[in-house]
Amino acid sequence: MSLIDEIEAVRKDFRTALDDFPTDPQKIDEIRIRFLGRKGMIANLFSQMNTIAPEDRAKVGKLLNKLKQEIQSKFELQLKNVDTSSKTDSGILDYTLPGIDFPCGSIHPIEQTLTQVKDIFKSIGFSIAYGPEVDDEYHNFEALNIPKHHPARDMQDTFYVTDESVLRTHTSNVQVHLMENEQPPIRYIVPGRVYRNEAISYKNFCLFHQVEGLYVDKNVTFSELKGTLDYFIRRIFGDEIKIRFRPTYFPFTEPSAEVDIWNSERKQWLEILGCGMVNPIVFKNVGYDPKIWHGYAFGLGIERIAMLKYKIQDIRHFYTNDVRFLEQF
Ligand code: DAH
Repeated sequence: MSLIDEIEAVRKDFRTALDDFPTDPQKIDEIRIRFLGRKGMIANLFSQMNTIAPEDRAKVGKLLNKLKQEIQSKFELQLKNVDTSSKTDSGILDYTLPGIDFPCGSIHPIEQTLTQVKDIFKSIGFSIAYGPEVDDEYHNFEALNIPKHHPARDMQDTFYVTDESVLRTHTSNVQVHLMENEQPPIRYIVPGRVYRNEAISYKNFCLFHQVEGLYVDKNVTFSELKGTLDYFIRRIFGDEIKIRFRPTYFPFTEPSAEVDIWNSERKQWLEILGCGMVNPIVFKNVGYDPKIWHGYAFGLGIERIAMLKYKIQDIRHFYTNDVRFLEQF
């Protein structure tokens, strides 16, 4: 067989090898060595060049170089294809590629605010208690010195579950449960949901969150209450915040106050909580002797605090589950 025929045979051989080109890198390498290796078919053909008559050498050499180029370029092309298509089977992994980002949720701003409030009060000696969201009128109203015909019990504000049970309108109902079940001294905060049958607007929703506070001991004073709330508010809003206590009326505390903070953007005072010294009538209702025990209580609205903290203008944002809103926290 002449060298020219051999060149054609190798070309045929290579094209057949390409027909079922393997994807396994080891097999690919075997083919490469067989054709292009130091002792491969191409090298073997080149080594026979000295048997060619000098006048034919240029022609045969050209043919041989062409074959070599064809094989090399086809090889590169095939390898490129294999490289992208066979990553998973061949186990080729690039460990330097950045990881895959998984979509990740965020903690709801109400939950974040609740957590912060709980952490602050825990750090100054308060324990956390929870109580029923469906309660009887006695615990939600009567025991707290809110009598039968008080406007707060109006059907317009209260969701009645049955004739005698309600969705609690505040977390103050848990004050009564705690004092019925435990002897003083007690010091609790009570986070939870409360419900009001109010017209829904940018500032009112039918459901919201409160944190109740209750401290009962001997010689508890109003100045302790002021100091505690002052400390709490500064931890939430920073030391620069301006605070004022304003006298008000609550049936279950005497004296009572509301606390406002100064909103420097809107240039107005905003109420953030109610508080006071536990009314002796409430102590009597739970069987505590008001001559021995004194206490203070407070109730703060979590939505109100979160709205001020995060500059949210409409309470309904907390409850519509709009991802564009939630993603910001
Ligand atoms: N329960 C009151 C409300 O929902 C808030 C409140 C005011 C709670 C004074 C208290 C308190 O414990 O002492 O508006």
